[in-house]
Amino acid sequence: MNLSDSIKSRRSIRRYKQKQVDDKLLTDLVDSARFAPSGGNMQHLRYVVVRTPENVKKVFELTGWGGHVRPKRSPVWGKDAPAAFIAVIAPAEVAKSLRHLHGDAGAAIQNILLKAVELGLGTCWIGNFKEENVSPVIGLGADMKTLYLVAVGYPDESPVQENIGSSDSTKYFLDEKDVLHVPKFKVDAIVTWK
Ligand SMILES: Cc1cc2nc3c(=O)[nH]c(=O)nc-3n(C[C@H](O)[C@H](O)[C@H](O)COP(=O)(O)O)c2cc1C
Repeated sequence: MNLSDSIKSRRSIRRYKQKQVDDKLLTDLVDSARFAPSGGNMQHLRYVVVRTPENVKKVFELTGWGGHVRPKRSPVWGKDAPAAFIAVIAPAEVAKSLRHLHGDAGAAIQNILLKAVELGLGTCWIGNFKEENVSPVIGLGADMKTLYLVAVGYPDESPVQENIGSSDSTKYFLDEKDVLHVPKFKVDAIVTWK
């Protein structure tokens, strides 16, 4: 698959096969993150790979999924939960003061998501968690903060993307076959030319 196809076909996955992901593949995901741009090339970000079932369960229980769809598109532990999480972390001092840090995290995470497409893995970027609950569970002290989590596993759903106009709803929705549809604005709806 070329890069354009990966960009277009990547979807957030909220149903996973109950299959472990090899450490080698998880390493490949983090390895792709390190090539991302970072403000001033400071490279403040670090990663915690959570992949033992015991630890994944602990993190999973602290995460929120598919908040905009009813019934909620939340995986169930033991049925279709992810095999791993990659926690994107940074020093607490930097997280407090550096405006660029979330830009760095976004660039790094998008590399992870696209690399996962290439590897046949599914991912979901997770921001819905309480930082103060997750950080201790993944072994962080007060000096480090969890910015985001990326859920990883083998996909067990195939969400489809829909093109929409500027006045259409961006809310993703489930059809009668339990397929998730993800609306994305057409380019004309989001660009201004000067
Ligand atoms: C910053 C950020 C935080 C997100 N947090 C969550 C989350 O906590 N739970 C979830 O299910 N999806 C989360 N998502 C995934 C979005 O819901 C998803 O990207 C959006 O619905 C578009 O779908 P797509 O990723 O398939 O294009 C997050 C995405 C971003 C960029």
